[in-house]
Amino acid sequence: MFDALHPQPDDPLLALIGLYKTDDRKGKVDLGVGVYRDEQGATPIFRAVKAAERRLLETQESKAYVGPEGDPVFLDRLWELTAGSAGRGLATAAVQTPGGSGALRLAADLIVRAGGRKIWLGVPTWPNHASIFKAAGLEIATYPFFDVPSQAVLFESMADALAKAAPGDAVLLHASCHNPTGGAIAPEQWKELTEIIESRGLLPLIDIAYQGFGKGIEEDAAGLRMLITRVPEALVAVSCSKSFGLYRERTGAIYAVAASDKIASIARSNLALIARVSYSMPPDHGAAVVSTILGDDTLKADWISELSSMRGRITSIRDKLAAGMSRRWQSLTAVAGQEGMFSLLPLEEADVLALRANHAIYMPTSGRINIAGLKSAEVDAVIEKFLTL
Ligand SMILES: Cc1ncc(COP(=O)(O)O)c(C=O)c1O
Repeated sequence: MFDALHPQPDDPLLALIGLYKTDDRKGKVDLGVGVYRDEQGATPIFRAVKAAERRLLETQESKAYVGPEGDPVFLDRLWELTAGSAGRGLATAAVQTPGGSGALRLAADLIVRAGGRKIWLGVPTWPNHASIFKAAGLEIATYPFFDVPSQAVLFESMADALAKAAPGDAVLLHASCHNPTGGAIAPEQWKELTEIIESRGLLPLIDIAYQGFGKGIEEDAAGLRMLITRVPEALVAVSCSKSFGLYRERTGAIYAVAASDKIASIARSNLALIARVSYSMPPDHGAAVVSTILGDDTLKADWISELSSMRGRITSIRDKLAAGMSRRWQSLTAVAGQEGMFSLLPLEEADVLALRANHAIYMPTSGRINIAGLKSAEVDAVIEKFLTL
C-alpha cells in the first residue's frame, strides 16, 4: 500500500539547518534558526527551569497518567500569566497540549466540530498555520498583514478584509512578536479589530507563542487581554516553547472562552475528546516545570529576569541592525521597532543565495531572519556583508 504514497517536500528550515551544519567555513552565521540563541550561540536552559527540574526530581512521586485535559494547576497558572486579570471570571475551558502546535490543532478540530468551515490567516504568517488548519479540514482565507518592501503593517487592508468575513468564520491573530515579520498591532488597532470581530460575529483564535520577547510579559498580552473580555467567544493557543525555553518538552495549552460556564464545560469535554483520540494525554514534564516556576515567587522572579535580559539582547541587536541596514534599505529602520525574534527582509531569492554562497550567512529564501541568531560582536561584520548586495 505504501507504493501509493507520494513523497512530501522536506521542511525547508530543516534542510537549511543541514546545509549550515555541513558548512565548515569559519564565522558562518545562522539566521534561519527558529529558537532563541544567546551571545555564545547556545539555546540555554533557563536557570529557573533547571531549578524546577531539580525540585521535581526530588519530589515527584508518580508518573501515572495525567488525563487528557492535563494538570489543572498548570492550566490555571498559565492562564493567569497569559490573560492576567482579564481572564479571571471568564467562562473558560482549558486543556494542556503538546506545545503551541498541539493547541492550534485542538483549536482547529474544535472549530470543525462546532460547524466552523473557514479560517482567515494573515499574509504572511507562520507557514505551519495553514498546514495545521488544512489538515483539520478548514478552508483557508487570507487577509493582508505586512508589506515587506516598506516593512509596514497593512492594518487598513487587514481591517477591510476582515470586515467582509462571514459570521462564524475564525480569524487567526498573533498576540505579539509576529512570526515571520515582527510587525506589531498598536493598542488602538486592537480596539478596532475587536469591534470588527464583534460586529461581524467572527471567532478569534489568538496564537501567543513569544510572550515576553517583545515589549514585556504584560505588554505582549495586552491586545489579547482586551479582546477576550469584549467578545462572546475566543480561543487562545499558548506555547511555552520559547517563553520558558522548553521547546522539546512540548508544553502548551488551549483555552476556549465561552459565553457561559455550561458552554465552556461542553467545549472542555470536546477538547478532551479530541485530545484522547489524537494522542490520549499530553506530556507532563514541561507543564510540571512551568507550574513549579509560576507557583514559586523566587523561581518566577528569576525566570522574569532571565527573560528580560533575552529581550534586552534582542532589542539591542535590532537597534544596531536597523541603523546599519537602513543605509542600504531605508525601510529597515522599522526593524528597531519590530517585536520578537523575527524580521522579514526585503531580499530576492538570489540575494539570499548569494549571502549563503559568498559569506556563509544562512537564512530561508523568504528572507526571514532570527535576530537572536546574531551575536553582538558580529553584527557590524554581518551588516557589511549585507551591504555588498
Ligand atoms: C507563531 C507560532 N505559533 C506557534 C508555534 C508553535 O510552537 P510549539 O509547537 O513549538 O510550541 C510557533 C513555533 O515556532 C510559532 O512561531
